[in-house]
Amino acid sequence: NPVAPCDFVVFGGTGDLAVRKLLPALYLRDRDGQLPAETRIIAASRAGLDHVGYRDKVRGELGRFLDADALDPLTLDRFLARLHYASVDAAAPDEWDQLLQLLDQPTDRVRVYYLACAPNLFGPISRHLAAHNLVDETCRVVLEKPIGHDLASARDINDAVGSVFDESQIFRIDHYLGKESVQNLLVTRFANTFLEPLWNSSWIDHVQITVAESLGVGSRAGYYDQSGALRDMVQNHLLQVLCLVAMEPPTCIDRESVRDEKLKVLQALKPLSHNDVGTLAIAGQYVAGLVDGAAVPSYRDDAENPDSLTETFVALKAEVRNWRWSGVPFYLRTGKRMEHRSSEVVIQFKPVPHPMFPGSDGDAEPNKLVIQLQPEEGMRLFMTAKEPGPGGIRLKPVSLDLNYVNAFQRRSPDAYERLLMDVVRGDPTLFMRRDEVEAAWAWVEPMLVAWRAQERGPRRYPAGTNGPFEATTLLERDGRTWHEGAAL
Ligand code: BG6
Repeated sequence: NPVAPCDFVVFGGTGDLAVRKLLPALYLRDRDGQLPAETRIIAASRAGLDHVGYRDKVRGELGRFLDADALDPLTLDRFLARLHYASVDAAAPDEWDQLLQLLDQPTDRVRVYYLACAPNLFGPISRHLAAHNLVDETCRVVLEKPIGHDLASARDINDAVGSVFDESQIFRIDHYLGKESVQNLLVTRFANTFLEPLWNSSWIDHVQITVAESLGVGSRAGYYDQSGALRDMVQNHLLQVLCLVAMEPPTCIDRESVRDEKLKVLQALKPLSHNDVGTLAIAGQYVAGLVDGAAVPSYRDDAENPDSLTETFVALKAEVRNWRWSGVPFYLRTGKRMEHRSSEVVIQFKPVPHPMFPGSDGDAEPNKLVIQLQPEEGMRLFMTAKEPGPGGIRLKPVSLDLNYVNAFQRRSPDAYERLLMDVVRGDPTLFMRRDEVEAAWAWVEPMLVAWRAQERGPRRYPAGTNGPFEATTLLERDGRTWHEGAAL
């Protein structure tokens, strides 16, 4: 679709997300000529700035989040001229005058309201927008995750926002869906023929999905301590990746087909009982350790909460109860302060049905496909080959490697660049629908409840390691191990 000029109103426009992600992404899209000339970006917040003050702030901040060669003075000036500032207390409808003045002009611009603020404000802001006559059928609203902190609060938020905006106008963002590597999962599966016939319980032994971060909680401890890894990463990013790995082929890539198929996967996840949680879902929290050779403090020190029971690590075993995946475990793992930053999907195939090379050194290793999502995007297929030489057949593991940067010699856009333009174009395919968000909450909720009831709290792991030993045991019990391979 052609991009219409728009007024892009960011509630929380001076906050961390806006400054770190949204403005750099919009700047890069502008630099590449993707924002129509009349487009305005209006920051709404309580920071009490004016237009000039906001532009100065953004001029200073962009350099921190963009490569120096991305910033050229002419583009920067053009971008800054698009920025406006409105002092707004989102929760107090009487204090919206500045925003009303900015928006009080007849326009054919599409209005996008980006709610980069706490989820408890999503409902009130939507209601105030409606009360001030700022909503019509062409508007869009973008909700940042987390949508609520459990199923009931997610429903309340969805009801409140849904009473003002139609579902087709609501864009619930999960930035993992905007990552090139995550979109490429669909292309890998459905634009090639050789994988799909094997992509089922007849040939696949199990699947691992790991999103490991070496960073700690940084400046977001206030939010994170209330949230934890299950809400922050599993309920959204990891389950979305799981959906793309496990879903049936949609008939086409349109706004509803992909989301319909993802929803079916979420609905097929075997619910965890209270007892299951003890054995199948491990919560961890990092203590002081070494990351890349540097000493780092414990989570409790980072969060300045000596009694915190918030989990910074989760490992769990999920089952998708349908014809394709019956009996194939999906092991999910994510954590802060792990050894390396690395996100990957590992498809572990079954062993060959019959070992037919007697006398060779060992049996053939089962094939394994590692799809690396970040830091580098790529794929590694572990195979077995004959070691060259005259002395009979000796089997050796080898790998076929594909590195996308080498293959395409091109920068991958940041997830937000793609997703913000999808909002402007009005394409919700890569956004979460209400039913998906609620199905994901329904599935994680037993873990939230069971962990809250546990006196012991999360298992400790030293920063710079791959989680508590119970995460290793989770797979060892099933005769399996986590894939810990070198990056591509
Ligand atoms: C965010 C989480 O959604 O994703 C953060 O709130 C996390 O805690 C981040 O660090 C990870 O995203 P990425 O793109 O760096 O893998």
